[in-house]
Amino acid sequence: MLDWYRAAGVDTAVGEEPVDRFAQRPPARVTPVPAVAVSPGFAERPVEAPVLLGGDPSEARSLAASAQSLDELQTLLGAYDGCGLKLRATQLVFADGNPEAEIMLIGEAPGAEEDRQGKPFVGKSGQLLDRMLAAIGLDRTKVYIANTVPWRPPGNRTPTPEEMALCLPFLHRQVELVAPKVVMTLGGPAMQTVFSTTNGIIKMRGKWSDVTIGNHPVQAIPTLHPAYLLRNPPAKEQAWRDMLSLKLKIAELGLASAE
Ligand code: URA
Repeated sequence: MLDWYRAAGVDTAVGEEPVDRFAQRPPARVTPVPAVAVSPGFAERPVEAPVLLGGDPSEARSLAASAQSLDELQTLLGAYDGCGLKLRATQLVFADGNPEAEIMLIGEAPGAEEDRQGKPFVGKSGQLLDRMLAAIGLDRTKVYIANTVPWRPPGNRTPTPEEMALCLPFLHRQVELVAPKVVMTLGGPAMQTVFSTTNGIIKMRGKWSDVTIGNHPVQAIPTLHPAYLLRNPPAKEQAWRDMLSLKLKIAELGLASAE
């Protein structure tokens, strides 16, 4: 039963009632604001405006912008307490692969194995990703891999828009510092984040667009997430077309990783 709870993301005993941690604020940040006359009996009470758990996207933006190297960014992110995902994760999952690569892959969020090892795409979907890369002559020495959020969401749920918004400045800076020539996103949430769209992945996959990530202009293509392919093997055909399209683009741009 405990295993089942853990798999569902219930890994902390907190109490009988649900607690909205995002609506909580650290004591140091509590700023009483003038009372608002709600009803005669409550008019004298100071009211605390709800804030996120230290989570301020503009703070995240200036912190991320201050990083002058990937190492610095990783250190800053490791020390950043603004995103609640960090509280439940084992460790930061920053990146894997070659920071000098011209090809960058962006996934959604670390899973259980990534959380254990501290590297993206090292579980079952990572093994499939490695095979997809190998099929077009790539491996982790030729690509750089990161995620939209660098901590595992409990129970592998999709990161919330708030969590993504807090982590996005760090992803933007990571892309600026790597400065890839092409980007491939894996799965719907990564595509929606990078392409700033609410369109679905089935409609968008396989199409190249010019996007600007942070301040870095780059050609990008979305494909299906390897975890989805593991659940829906027939969809591998579409993913294969996207991988071939990536291979063509690499050749067309004369990237160093072209065979
Ligand atoms: N799925 C992702 O999107 N990222 C990982 O790192 C692992 C699985």
